[in-house]
Amino acid sequence: MISDSAEQSHVDTPEASDVWWKSAVVYQVYPRSFQDSNGDGIGDVRGILQRVDYLAELGVDVVWLSPIYRSPQDDNGYDISDYQDIDPTFGTLEDVDELIEALHERGIKLVMDLVVNHTSDEHPWFAESRSSVDNPKRDWYWWRPAREGMEPGTPGAEPTNWGSVFSGPAWEYDETTGEYYLHLFSRKQPDLNWENPEVRQAVYAMMRWWLDRRIDGFRMDVINLISKHVRPDGSLPDVPAEDGLYGSAFAATVNGPRLHEFLQEIHREVYEGRRDGLLLVGETPGATVEDGKLLTDPARHELDMVFTFEHVSLDHGPAGRFDVVPLDLRDLKATLGRWQTGLEQAGWNALYWNNHDQPRVVSRYGDDGAYRRESAMMLAIVLHLHRGTPYVYQGEELGMTNAYFTSLDEYRDIESLRFAASERQRGQLNDEELLSWLAAGSRDNARTPMQWDATPQAGFTTGQPWIDVNPHHDTINAAAEVADPDSVFHLYRRLIALRHEDPVVQRGDFHLLLPDDPHIYAFTRTWGDEQLLVLGNFSGTEQTVPVGPDWDQAALVIGNYPASPATGGGQIVLRAWEGLVLRRAPIR
Ligand code: NOJ
Repeated sequence: MISDSAEQSHVDTPEASDVWWKSAVVYQVYPRSFQDSNGDGIGDVRGILQRVDYLAELGVDVVWLSPIYRSPQDDNGYDISDYQDIDPTFGTLEDVDELIEALHERGIKLVMDLVVNHTSDEHPWFAESRSSVDNPKRDWYWWRPAREGMEPGTPGAEPTNWGSVFSGPAWEYDETTGEYYLHLFSRKQPDLNWENPEVRQAVYAMMRWWLDRRIDGFRMDVINLISKHVRPDGSLPDVPAEDGLYGSAFAATVNGPRLHEFLQEIHREVYEGRRDGLLLVGETPGATVEDGKLLTDPARHELDMVFTFEHVSLDHGPAGRFDVVPLDLRDLKATLGRWQTGLEQAGWNALYWNNHDQPRVVSRYGDDGAYRRESAMMLAIVLHLHRGTPYVYQGEELGMTNAYFTSLDEYRDIESLRFAASERQRGQLNDEELLSWLAAGSRDNARTPMQWDATPQAGFTTGQPWIDVNPHHDTINAAAEVADPDSVFHLYRRLIALRHEDPVVQRGDFHLLLPDDPHIYAFTRTWGDEQLLVLGNFSGTEQTVPVGPDWDQAALVIGNYPASPATGGGQIVLRAWEGLVLRRAPIR
């Protein structure tokens, strides 16, 4: 039987309880795939302007825009060549000013993505840095000679054995000066050297420039990689080699010794003394709960919240993100539960299932076949009822599914294409296996165009889209969802409204129930004398949940089936993929 004590203390500090983002929901726009306004097949800022009323109807408080800065687009804008200009693909600075205005008029904030672990190799800083060993900007990036005794430019001669996230070595040999530069991502994304104070000041000046333009904050890309584990003599350590010559560079680059110092400096130099209402959220692969606590404790003045990767890595097999294995719900509950309790005294969670790097959650942790609507809604209910700030990725509110591409030609993502090329070279997967790995794990699953309507290109473009539209847009699209009061869209709208209004949702203590149940996700949220019970059935079969008599008379707050579930006698029978929230008050 489920029982829960209401005696837990309320852990909000007075300082933290007033922050606006505890009752806010963020919506991520991936501009390239959101709305095209000029028929070139690529989404743009004027396209987003056409859809601001849709965002207002959904009720979100903040829009986070993936990068639109000037960029060669090697990694779809995560390779920036000018931080203070907009890529012509997406529009102009004037368009962005108009977008800021249009969003602010509707009470929506705008948060920009900021990629400062690395720049593009076409950024003028890097052009200078690579030009000669004594250029004043040489030390703005990580340059190193070949390994001692090795012929520069030959395999294994790289300064360390670090592998890039996008396959292959993380060092590129540059003939101009006969040295290597570091790139944790593609070779067109050289890593900035944050040890150099001039680099940091240049980044801060640029951030201030954007805030002066009235944006409302930043989502900081792989921000916990900016401090490398550099030895006192300036050398960099090797890592355990996993795959022949190279190993994951993460161990040597994640949460480095100066990370907290740098983040506190950002806060001081950029945020301190500014207007209220700004947001600073960090993407932190590899961060543990302990790291999360340090990074988001308001007293430490680092970040407001961070994106953990732990709960979106639980279906990764031994070979990583493309090697997808079934999720064990017990792991998901344990992982999210750890972050909930870990950050309850100080700090704050960013809650998400999807973003532009993750396969669609309904295809991943739900059932995108017979129970697509139900499972998309159940997943939304479970996530949004946790303590933290929920993030909705474009199309998630429609229950959009994975792309299920069947040929390599359909893929655009650099990580997927590089993985395919390196696997082909290794020859361990046959073509069929390779395609099925990509179909399950590729980032392109999230990047197919937003499905606005049932017309041939889903209302996304009048031209040829840069990546194919998901064929399901004939049935899964915003026009149909908005028109149907029982749709996934309206469930999201109601969840967002609930977060705005309900102090239990915003602040209530979290308590995980039934940790060992393989099908049911269950927890309570408690605030004052009110308590919510959240249940999610992660299976396609009926499940009887022993919740105890306290909940027999409880009111249904929100659910994903039109009729209330069967309750009574201390138990609730959940239908396939059912998700619901019950409220009881007062409790003693
Ligand atoms: C994380 C971003 O979300 C991803 O899309 C990008 O490829 C890498 N960082 C490199 O910037």
